Amino acid sequence: MKNLRKAKILVVDDEENIRKSLKMILEYEGYQFLEAGDGEEALSLIEETIDLDLVLLDIKLPGLDGLDILAEIKKRPYAPEVIMISGQGTIQTAVEATKLGAFEFLEKPLHRDRVLLSIRNALNQNTLRRECLDLRKKAEKRYEIVGNHPLMKQLWKDILKTAPTNATVLIHGESGTGKELIARAIHSHSLRAKEPFIQVNCAAIPEELIESELFGHEKGAFTGATERKVGKFEQADGGTIFLDEIADMSLKTQSKVLRVLEEGEIQRVGSSKVSKVDVRVIAATNKDLKKEIGEGKFRDDLFFRLNVVPVYSPALREKREDIPLLIDYFGRNFAEENNFKPRKFSAEAVAVMTKYAWKGNVRELRNVVERLLIMTEAEVIDKKDLPEQVGGGAKAQLPDAGEAKTLKDYRELAEKDFILAKLEKNNWNISQTAREIDTPRSNLYKKLAQYGIKITVGVGEAVAPSSPTEKKGEESPNSEGQDGR
Ligand SMILES: Nc1ncnc2c1ncn2[C@@H]1O[C@H](COP(=O)(O)OP(=O)(O)OP(=O)(O)O)[C@@H](O)[C@H]1O
Ligand SMILES: [Mg+2]
Repeated sequence: MKNLRKAKILVVDDEENIRKSLKMILEYEGYQFLEAGDGEEALSLIEETIDLDLVLLDIKLPGLDGLDILAEIKKRPYAPEVIMISGQGTIQTAVEATKLGAFEFLEKPLHRDRVLLSIRNALNQNTLRRECLDLRKKAEKRYEIVGNHPLMKQLWKDILKTAPTNATVLIHGESGTGKELIARAIHSHSLRAKEPFIQVNCAAIPEELIESELFGHEKGAFTGATERKVGKFEQADGGTIFLDEIADMSLKTQSKVLRVLEEGEIQRVGSSKVSKVDVRVIAATNKDLKKEIGEGKFRDDLFFRLNVVPVYSPALREKREDIPLLIDYFGRNFAEENNFKPRKFSAEAVAVMTKYAWKGNVRELRNVVERLLIMTEAEVIDKKDLPEQVGGGAKAQLPDAGEAKTLKDYRELAEKDFILAKLEKNNWNISQTAREIDTPRSNLYKKLAQYGIKITVGVGEAVAPSSPTEKKGEESPNSEGQDGR
């Protein structure tokens, strides 16, 4: 337990003897020891010591008392654990300290073994808590919204204004502009943040299944309903449901969704029972719903219900000033996630990318950046490395023959390059790409696995591998590229 023995511990006690004896014990055990004789001193030490793991804190101190200090400590995001020490520990103080987040309560006189045991337990707990925080941070990072453009500042204002309310939000904007990120941001800044966020991609679910997907079904409700199923609205109870691509919902399903919005009631398919749910609805679309209403494809009453707070997700070409920032962000993230060397883009390359039309918006930009990091060897990625359609010099050219040792190597390089280029051309839509290159979809999926091109989000988005060796052998041992020399 090397890392535990080096832990940094602060002892706060006004009795010098106690500090002296704890110093001896702790240093003997290999801990780093810090001390403070009163509350003020303790707080300033806590302020300046970022990697503090644990505080042993006397309840009774001159000036600020232990409970005040405890409350201060626990306000910090990476707060150390705290063990309270007391001369005449009353139950009442112990209860209060525990409520404020103290790990444990030790009574004087202190016994060496008892103290050491508590310390070990508290440090273990601290490590677990920090790991948990780190994981959460990583997850949050995936959904980070990057951008300084005034439109993005306005967007953040809208998000923060609507988040704490229960209002239904309709996010509209082109494909790839970050509508999902906005929906998640609203949820995570709402009072429901700790409750579920359930996403339903209405375009990806076949019409005959969508009702049971949303509202659940009873066993035997229809052929194939062998088990009872809990629907997405029920899963989201207490939290938020994100109805993505809402325009793709049939009129029949729309009327059922309207009922949830109006009455807060759902009915499982095949059930006569109605149950209440408390769900906040966020919907998104890249279509013009007014036009859909005009064509009789969308219910106007549902539109008005959804559109309580409209939020616009701007297209990338409306916020070009953010492009350099996004290039840098995606580049750094991708390198970090995949243990690549971080690389720079030349000023000229950035300038060309800032001018490009980006019909696929931020998603397209991200895919281009990631692809460049995989495919380009150069330390600095230059204009000539950019794909031709973006305005660079790189044609869908053949890979460098010198890179490949065997015929098979060369063929695979070329094949991967070809597939990436076609995916990009088809906006990362698998079915469309498969059609264009005249191969079954199943084969294209096999190839993606073989070359570690990973599809992360439902329809149409592909990103590069999270680890270069991922899924090797598991999914593609017999795929054509490997056996057909
Ligand atoms: N402002 C941003 N900062 C960082 N990443 C972004 C930003 N906007 C979009 N992205 C990234 O672009 C990709 C597309 O975003 P998202 O899926 O939210 O778009 P969308 O509007 O929902 O698209 P679609 O209509 O196709 O579903 C994601 O990888 C997302 O992380
Ligand atoms: Mg989306």
